[in-house]
Amino acid sequence: MIRRAAKDYLVFALDVPSAAAAEPLVERLAGAVGMFKIGLELFVREGPAVADLVRRRGGARIFLDLKLHDIPATVRRAMAAAAALEVDFVTVHCGESPAMLEAAVEGAGGRVKVLGVTVLTSVAPAELKAAGLRPELAEDPGHLVLRRAAMAADAGCAGVVCAGHELEMLKQRFDDRLLAVVPGIRPAAGEVAGDDQRRVMTPAAAVAAGADHLVVGRPIRDAADPLQAAEAIVEQISVALSGDSNRTAKPR
Ligand code: C5P
Repeated sequence: MIRRAAKDYLVFALDVPSAAAAEPLVERLAGAVGMFKIGLELFVREGPAVADLVRRRGGARIFLDLKLHDIPATVRRAMAAAAALEVDFVTVHCGESPAMLEAAVEGAGGRVKVLGVTVLTSVAPAELKAAGLRPELAEDPGHLVLRRAAMAADAGCAGVVCAGHELEMLKQRFDDRLLAVVPGIRPAAGEVAGDDQRRVMTPAAAVAAGADHLVVGRPIRDAADPLQAAEAIVEQISVALSGDSNRTAKPR
């Protein structure tokens, strides 16, 4: 049975302000992580050139976290432009409409995997309520995540972004039909000063619950030695995987 390497689960979020700040991190972590995630801060500043830089120096796959959210025609065209950058994953928000998700998948045209962002891991029930969601959906974000994941699956998305606590029900409902990409990963409690993430989980718990990719930013970026921090997370993933011998390799 072929297994995915533990490092292939790890996505490092390159949440830095410039290509100059990204480059040393990419070089240091090349070969140690499965994917680099380029987020809004870096992409708005540097544009597509930063994807080239990460591809040349990082030797890993690229996740372009654009979190698109607009009318379907605009999302379709933006996704087509993103697909031309030869990245592996691009995100779109699930919260607005099935038509927006369908447009994203159409724009991708099979050249890039579309991930639907269900509910941000920084959001807590009180905030969902304040945003106008019905109490039964706001109080348990899991219901909202399932509903939005169903929209993503119906539209043809390859996967969703969700919190670790939603993995079990997501995998029960969708099994391998949807990749589960999980941010809000914290190897140890309280390690990020002033943390804005609310729905967090350890790497081992997330892998045991069925995560396909773990997105980790600050615990690696802000570590005294980012490589050591990444390797420690990969080790935790590896231990969790060895306790779960049923997981097999799939092209993900
Ligand atoms: O620093 P930290 O580990 O919290 O980084 C998490 C990364 O995952 C950030 O780049 C953030 O934009 C992203 N993300 C998230 N929650 C989502 C989708 C993406 O935290 N639902």
